[in-house]
Amino acid sequence: MMMHAVSARSVGRDLGGWRDDAGRRPAYRALADGIRLLVHDGRIPLGAALPGERELAAELNVSRTTVTTAYSVLRDEGYLSSRQGSRSTVAIPPSAQRYGHGAPARRTAGDDIVDLSYAAMPAPAREVQDAYESALQSLPPFLDTHGMEPHGIGVLREVIAARYCARGLETTPAQIMVTSGAQHAIRLLLGALTAPGDRVLVDHPTYPNALEAIRRGGGRPVPVPVRPEGGASRGWDLDGIRSAARQTAARMAYLIPDFHNPTGLCLDEAGRTELARIARDTRMVLVVDETMVDVWLDAPPPAPVASYARSGAEVVTIGSMSKSHWGGLRVGWIRADQELITRLVGGRSANDLGTPVMDQLAATRLLGLGDGPVAERREVLRAQRGVLLDELSARLPDWVPTVGAGGMSLWLKMPAPVSSALAATAPSHGVILAAGTRFGIEGAFERFVRLPYARPADELRRAVAAVASAYEALGVTRDPAEPALVV
Ligand SMILES: Cc1ncc(COP(=O)(O)O)c(C=O)c1O
Repeated sequence: MMMHAVSARSVGRDLGGWRDDAGRRPAYRALADGIRLLVHDGRIPLGAALPGERELAAELNVSRTTVTTAYSVLRDEGYLSSRQGSRSTVAIPPSAQRYGHGAPARRTAGDDIVDLSYAAMPAPAREVQDAYESALQSLPPFLDTHGMEPHGIGVLREVIAARYCARGLETTPAQIMVTSGAQHAIRLLLGALTAPGDRVLVDHPTYPNALEAIRRGGGRPVPVPVRPEGGASRGWDLDGIRSAARQTAARMAYLIPDFHNPTGLCLDEAGRTELARIARDTRMVLVVDETMVDVWLDAPPPAPVASYARSGAEVVTIGSMSKSHWGGLRVGWIRADQELITRLVGGRSANDLGTPVMDQLAATRLLGLGDGPVAERREVLRAQRGVLLDELSARLPDWVPTVGAGGMSLWLKMPAPVSSALAATAPSHGVILAAGTRFGIEGAFERFVRLPYARPADELRRAVAAVASAYEALGVTRDPAEPALVV
């Protein structure tokens, strides 16, 4: 992970009412507690340098001694590590991981275990079956060819391009490359746009398999916090993105502005304009993952981020059938300028030789049905989100959900940092969970857990009962080391 400095302004803003209990603790202690909480919550990224003491003291209107002493407490506790000659960087000490770390043992969900580690719905069975039957009818012309099309079949690229045009983003079929899912698209783009050692800006939290792909490609993720309390439409720290891009000279940013996984937040129009401007000013290629774009629940998203860019090279867009239709199709795509598409197509053979023609034909057919099947899914998801929220408020009332405008999951803040332990014990209570730490870097988000509402209502009810029972078994009360801080 690459070091970058967080500004005094953003620390001051995130600390919020850090002295609300003034008088009960010395100021330096309250400040150290507040900063520690921000580290645990992932708002100050691990590996980042804290602001200079003088600068933070001025921002918070406290004496410099208060900041110096707070930093020294954090250093003693292992939350700041100092190397000679360089600034102190933020860390999480092993002692703070007292509830245990690590992914839960992988178990297959049986009848009695609900698997909430996936935010993905079952297929709309009738439509998908019909689509494959129709694909079989459309197959014969392809049988005269070798059938390997690294670009993707023409009819599918035409339908995808037309969808972008309808959303206000002029696109030709030559600007589309069909991939075997969005995950494949992420891998291909990392291969084309970054070299080992390069920095890649990411939302924090973010989609875990993208983090994994960055790491496996030798990239260094640079986390920029997504702040749920920024409002349902505006959780992105655009100043933070701009300064992290400048400070780290990141080559690429991977962001999910459309119903972000895991928070469900959606970046508003002004934010999209600014994001495109940042890409232009910093020459950092913005890879926008639109996998969730059709899963809007409260209001449709603004136009694609790429439509706010001045040139086609600034913003690359990833799309997928997995959330709108079915993950089993394994069909996704990349929209980029033609030059990048040509490069991607040229390099594809090292990965694979194309996406199966049958799956592409079925995808063409499904996209040709228009919004109908997707609208039905949205209706189901709205109802399931309601059930999940009701069950949570009945059984776990002190867990605080982020309710974004769409997506397939709730991002919940727990009263104590126990996510890994919860995920580890949950299967024995009847539910498989993804710990909050999977969505962050080096142990961040231990106070968070993602709960998808992609499963039917009865499963969600059982799942929440199981989560509550696992949580109770941990015997957690509010973490005494955590200040009662409102941020
Ligand atoms: C944000 C995001 N990107 C990409 C993917 C992977 O999509 P696909 O199934 O198309 O590979 C997912 C799946 O959960 C996702 O949430």
